[in-house]
Amino acid sequence: MTIACDVLVIGAGAAGLMCALTAGRRGRQVRVVERANKPGKKILMSGGGRCNFTNTGTGPANFVSANPHFCKSALARYAPADFIDMVDRHGIAWHEKELGQLFCDDSSKQIVRMLLDECADAGVVVDVGCEIHGVVREDEGFRIDTARGRIAAQSLVVASGGLSIPSLGGSGLGYALARQFGHAVLPTRAGLVPLVLTGSHAERLEGLSGVALEVEAESGGQSFRNAMLVTHRGLSGPAILQVSSYWDAGEPIAINLLPGVDALAFLREQRAARPASELRTVLAERMPRRFAQRLCERWLGDRPLRQFDEPALARAAAALSAWPVAASGTEGYRTAEVTLGGVDTDGLSSTTLMSRSVLGLYFIGEVVDVTGWLGGYNFQWAWASGHAAGNAA
Ligand code: FDA
Repeated sequence: MTIACDVLVIGAGAAGLMCALTAGRRGRQVRVVERANKPGKKILMSGGGRCNFTNTGTGPANFVSANPHFCKSALARYAPADFIDMVDRHGIAWHEKELGQLFCDDSSKQIVRMLLDECADAGVVVDVGCEIHGVVREDEGFRIDTARGRIAAQSLVVASGGLSIPSLGGSGLGYALARQFGHAVLPTRAGLVPLVLTGSHAERLEGLSGVALEVEAESGGQSFRNAMLVTHRGLSGPAILQVSSYWDAGEPIAINLLPGVDALAFLREQRAARPASELRTVLAERMPRRFAQRLCERWLGDRPLRQFDEPALARAAAALSAWPVAASGTEGYRTAEVTLGGVDTDGLSSTTLMSRSVLGLYFIGEVVDVTGWLGGYNFQWAWASGHAAGNAA
């Protein structure tokens, strides 16, 4: 028996559910097929269980894509305020943490519940624990073979996400379908991911795991001021996760350990005011003591300031404002929050997210080559692209 519907959505994640409820509200018969045993697993895990569901400052500059203009249309037509309206209608309490990041007061379960309630109201059928065996173009639509039987749909929306955290649903199905239908897929790699250090750099930081400090990290022409955390294997924390999305293997990363401070002027001032003080003592007033001590022992020199002549002081200042980190790699998809790259936007309409070459085929959310910064931007892209496709499919 073949089940017929107007719109079949592959993936009951953030983008898929938003697309489904939007199309359902338009009176379309919508079915969502999800291979995991429950919908919205990444939403449930997000934001430490409180879901950083949007960012009030979302704009095209907060996304990485081969075409930085592509995301503009969808983002403009479904703004953070639109999602906040839905959250408010469902009586979900939320708060702003910092930098425009909005979180649920209680639990990310509320966001999944809200999306599923909206889907149910719109008559959407969500089929979980269902594998896709194959998709073919048939007549004016698509035939999808699943573990539960055959589905015929006029429109097919691929919302199967990226490769990050396979245990939460990450799969390559969306990329395979894109290729099957003649779309280019740009190389994928882990984004918003901790960096791994090896060799002398790792040795020099040994024993400091757990130490965190505010820094400004720069790579690939983009810099982020936020916390950095030393881990057992390298570096993490928001500043590092953000910059990891701009980092190419083999490229340097420069870390300003005194963000917002003119390091040379500061050191000169300190040398004049307290020449007998050790450099580590002075730095420990601006960063964790253990980190300052290690920095001086292994990199900058461990002696009183008066023993730093002008060239030595300039070298120390340069190292403090652009501490060079040579990462050997990232922790990979196992811990990455997102997948960079993906379905090439050149083949998609920026207004509807529909394929330019295959009528009725859509790609939305993380499977597309649009990746947000840390801070609620990825969900905002999922909502906006899902909404755009849901209004067209
Ligand atoms: P998503 O991955 O959400 O959904 C894809 C769905 O497709 C999954 O349910 C998957 O099981 C299903 N699927 C895959 N293959 C399939 C197949 N073959 N057949 C059927 N179904 C299939 N972002 C943010 O803005 N704020 C935050 O707080 C966080 N926090 C966060 C924490 C963690 C731990 C991670 C890993 C990620 C985040 N993110 C985030 C990123 C955010 O979760 C992510 O960008 C969105 O969930 C992407 O939404 P999609 O719907 O595109 O994919």
